[in-house]
Parts: sequence; structure tokens; C-alpha cells
Amino acid sequence: MTESQQDIWSEWLLNRRFGGNAERMKAAMDFLYPVRDKVLHHANLGENETLLDVGCGDGLIAFGALEKSKTVKVIFSDISQDLLNHAQSIAQEMSLIDCCKFICAPAEDHSVIGSESVEVITTRSVLIYVAAKQQAFDEFYRILKPQGRLSIFEPINRFRYPEPSHIFWGCDATPVAEIAQKVKAVYHQIQPLDKDPMLDFDERDLITFAEKAGFKEIHLDLQVEIKPRNNDVSWEVMLRTAGNPKIPTLEEAMREVLTPAETKVFIAYLRPLIEAKRGVNQSALAYLWAIK
Ligand SMILES: C[S@@+](CC[C@H](N)C(=O)[O-])C[C@H]1O[C@@H](n2cnc3c(N)ncnc32)[C@H](O)[C@@H]1O
Repeated sequence: MTESQQDIWSEWLLNRRFGGNAERMKAAMDFLYPVRDKVLHHANLGENETLLDVGCGDGLIAFGALEKSKTVKVIFSDISQDLLNHAQSIAQEMSLIDCCKFICAPAEDHSVIGSESVEVITTRSVLIYVAAKQQAFDEFYRILKPQGRLSIFEPINRFRYPEPSHIFWGCDATPVAEIAQKVKAVYHQIQPLDKDPMLDFDERDLITFAEKAGFKEIHLDLQVEIKPRNNDVSWEVMLRTAGNPKIPTLEEAMREVLTPAETKVFIAYLRPLIEAKRGVNQSALAYLWAIK
């Protein structure tokens, strides 16, 4: 990595998830702000309490908590030092630095934080990247004070899999099935459906992790949607957007495995479908909140 290069988490969170496009970024934030508010609502953060945001990223949840109250303290924690530096400079600019602490640690090992030391733990879209999920829940339980609250949001990606082989991006790709399979194989190789941490759990597992960790009160809200495609994102932006930090954009994946002729055929088929908003979007999202 050269000095100006960011790690994959920072590069994705600050750029690649939006395909470098301001409108896409706005659409993502329109979705994320209500999610943040719900996570914080479930966390029930009180005056003078300390909140630990695990996998804080650029501070969506953590800064949301600081907006809510002038008396709270927030611990930003992430495995990405680049993102911690980024959040720290925002905190500095907003004159919030005295209420903040920054620690570099994985969700499954927060031994730098003492037992029974914080009132609230939040985490959003982080456990999908953690293989040792039970260990992470055990850590959350250890760190929380008695009566402490945990509030989590995670996408349940397994809901969409196994995907019928003729479906690509929610569209029927039967006429270009062979080409579609080649592209899909790029993604499956990086994230095998049977063992990738993004796909190896569902909402029932989240409940079991919380129960096994020892939480005495647990709530889970699952939101499932299957609906016709309705996003206004341009084809060019979709080509350059990566679904998560570990995978290539469609443009990159096609470059990797398709010949120029195959790329032409694939785009000629898929682009009109996407632009005509054909196909289906499916999502399953889980909010879990629990009391120690
Ligand atoms: C999708 S981002 C979410 C960021 C933030 N929570 C938000 O709501 O915007 C995932 C974050 O998890 C962090 N992460 C990935 N693996 C992790 C791990 N094992 N432990 C802690 N954080 C991790 C990444 O660095 C990244 O900041």
C-alpha cells in the first residue's frame, strides 16, 4: 500500500460503495439515516452513559449518538486504522474530540476494554465480516455493565441464496446464462456461499448467539422485502459500484473473466433490462437488541 492508498475498508466505505457518485451516496444515506436512528432508538442511550460502536467505519452510528446528547461518551472501534483516523479528524473538526475515544480492535477481541465498563454497544453491518460471531457476542456481553444494552443491525444475505442459476442482479439472464455464470463465478470464488461470514448466518443464529452469550432479554425485528426494481441509479454508476469491500465491481469482474466479445453481448442484454427497471430486488434486514 502506498502512503496515499487507503485500506480496503476505508476505500470501500468512503468511495467504492457509491461508485464514486454523489447521487448514489445520497440515496445510500437516505436509507442509512433511518437505520442509524432505529439502532440508536433500540440502544436507549441515557445521559452521561458510554456507548461503544464496534466496527464504527466513518462514524454513522457513533456521530449519531453524539448528536443526541452532549453528555455521552463514545468509543469508536474498528479494525481499520484509516477509518479511525478519518473519524478522529471529523470529531476534531466538530469539536467533539473530548467525548471520543478511538481503538483499533476486531469485534471478536476487545480485550483492550475492561469488563462491565460501558452501558451501550452498537454495531451496524459489521458481524457480516466476522467469522467468530459467537466470540463477538461473548465480548459484547463481557464489556457491558449489568443492565447494559446491545443494539445491532445486520443484513441477512443468506435470504437471497441459493439464487436460481438463471438470475443475475435480479433479472432473468437465461439468454446469456453461460456468460452470467462466468461473472458469478468470480464472486463465488471470493465469497463461497457455504462458508463466507457474510452468508453463513441468519436471524435465528443472531438470536442464538445473543442467548448463548447470556443476554436475558432479546428482541429481533426482521424486515423482508421482495419488490420490483425501483432504483434510479445509472448503468455507469452500477458498473462501478462494489457491493462490499472484498469484491470487484461488475466492470472489474467482466474485465477479469470475459472476452471483449462476451462483454459486449452481456452488456447489450443486461443494460436495457436494468435501465427499464426490470427484475426484482430482494432484501432481508435484522435489528437485534438485547439487555444484559
Ligand atoms: C459496512 S462497514 C459499516 C461501518 C459502520 N458501522 C456504519 O454503520 O456505517 C463495516 C465496518 O466493519 C469494519 N470491520 C470489518 N471487519 C471487522 C472486524 N472483524 N471487527 C471490527 N470491525 C470490522 C470495517 O472496517 C468497516 O468499518
